[in-house]
Amino acid sequence: MSQTLIKNIGLLVTNNAEVDGTPLGLISNAGLLIEHGKVKWIGASESAPSAEKTIDASGKCVIPGFVDSHNHLIFAGDRSKEFAARMAGQKYEAGGIAYTVELTRKASDGDLLSNAQRLQHEALHSGSTTIEIKSGYGLTVKDEVRSLLIAKQLTPETTFLGAHVVPSEYKDKSDDYVDLVCGAMLTEVKPHAKWIDVFCDRGAFTTEQARKVLKAGITAGLKPRLHANQLEQGDGVALGVELDAASVDHVSHFNQSDIEKLAGSKTVATLLPGAEFSTRSAYPDARKLLDAGVTVALAADCNPGSSYTTNMPLIIALAVREMFMSPEQALWSATKGGAQALRRSDVGHLSVGANADFVILKESSYIHLAYRPGVNLVDEVWQHGAKI
Ligand code: NIG
Ligand code: FE
Repeated sequence: MSQTLIKNIGLLVTNNAEVDGTPLGLISNAGLLIEHGKVKWIGASESAPSAEKTIDASGKCVIPGFVDSHNHLIFAGDRSKEFAARMAGQKYEAGGIAYTVELTRKASDGDLLSNAQRLQHEALHSGSTTIEIKSGYGLTVKDEVRSLLIAKQLTPETTFLGAHVVPSEYKDKSDDYVDLVCGAMLTEVKPHAKWIDVFCDRGAFTTEQARKVLKAGITAGLKPRLHANQLEQGDGVALGVELDAASVDHVSHFNQSDIEKLAGSKTVATLLPGAEFSTRSAYPDARKLLDAGVTVALAADCNPGSSYTTNMPLIIALAVREMFMSPEQALWSATKGGAQALRRSDVGHLSVGANADFVILKESSYIHLAYRPGVNLVDEVWQHGAKI
C-alpha cells in the first residue's frame, strides 16, 4: 500500500465546510495522508498516522489544485498586434477570432498538439490540476473533430464550441452554419466531447441560434455551458438557467433578473477577469452575484485573443483587486467553484476520498496569492497523489 504523508502544513485549505464551518474548511498545523492518488486522511499534524513516505511542508499553506473550467487551447499563432492595438484604444470585437481560425486550419495536427501541450504544462505548473479545453478555432467538420481529438489527449473535460463565430465562408448565412453545427458537425464530434458551448453575444450567435445549438447538443448527449453577456447585456444568462447549463461564462454584464435566475438555479456564473484585463473592459462586480447567493467560479479563459494567460494566481489577484472578491471567495471560486462549473465532486477540495490534487505554496497563507501579484508562489504541485 503506497501511502504518503504531508506533515507540518501551516494552513490546509480543504474546501470542506464541515471542517470549521467556513467555506474554505481551514485546518492549522495539519497533516494530509495520500493513498492510491486519493486523500485518505486529514487532521492535526501531530495525530497523523505514519506512512511509508513523509514530506515536511515546513509550515507552508496547502490548497486544492485549481480547477480551471474555461480554456481555448487548440489554436495556432498569436494576436499580439491586436492586443497592442487594443492597448492603444481599439475596442475588442468577436471578429478577431477569424484570424486565429485561418491559422488553425493551416496548422498541422502535431503543431496544434504541441502548442496545447505547452499551455497545459504552463497551467499545471502554476497549480491548475484540472482544466477544461474547448474547440472553436476550426469551424469545419474536419477541423473541429481534430481539435477535439487533440483536446481529448490532454483532459477529459472537452467542449465542442463549433458555434464560436460564423466562419467567413458562411458570411450572411449564419442560420446555415448553425444547421451544420447542429447536424453533421455535431454527429462527428460527439464521441470526443463532453460539453457543448456557444458564444451567445454581439457579433457571434443570437439567443435563438444559441438555444438551437445547445438543445441539439443536449439531444446528442452532451452537457450544456455557454459564453454569455461578455460584450453586452443579453439573454444568454437566462438561456443558460433555462437549459440547466452547468455554467454561464464571462457574465461581464448582468441585470437583476439574471441575478435572481442564477441564484435560484444550479448554474454557476464563471467570471473571467483575464478577459476584462486584456480587452481593457469594465470588470463585473462579483459581490452583487455573491451577495445574492449565486455560485461563482473563476477561470483563466486562456485563448490567443481576449486572455492569453494560463495563470490562475493572476486571475485570483484580479478578482480580488478588480471584482471585489475577498481572498477567501476568490480561492474558493478558483477551486471548488470551478469543480461545480464542471459538475465534478472529486476535485476542487481535499476531503477524504477526493483526488489528491493540491498545491504547496511558498507562503504560509493563501492571501499571498492576491497580496503578492505576479510572483510565483507555487512551491510544489501534486496531481493524483504524485508530485509533478
Ligand atoms: O472566451 N468570447 C469568446 N471567445 C473567447 C475569445 C476568443 C478570441 O478572441 O479568440 C473568450 O474570450
Ligand atoms: Fe471563452
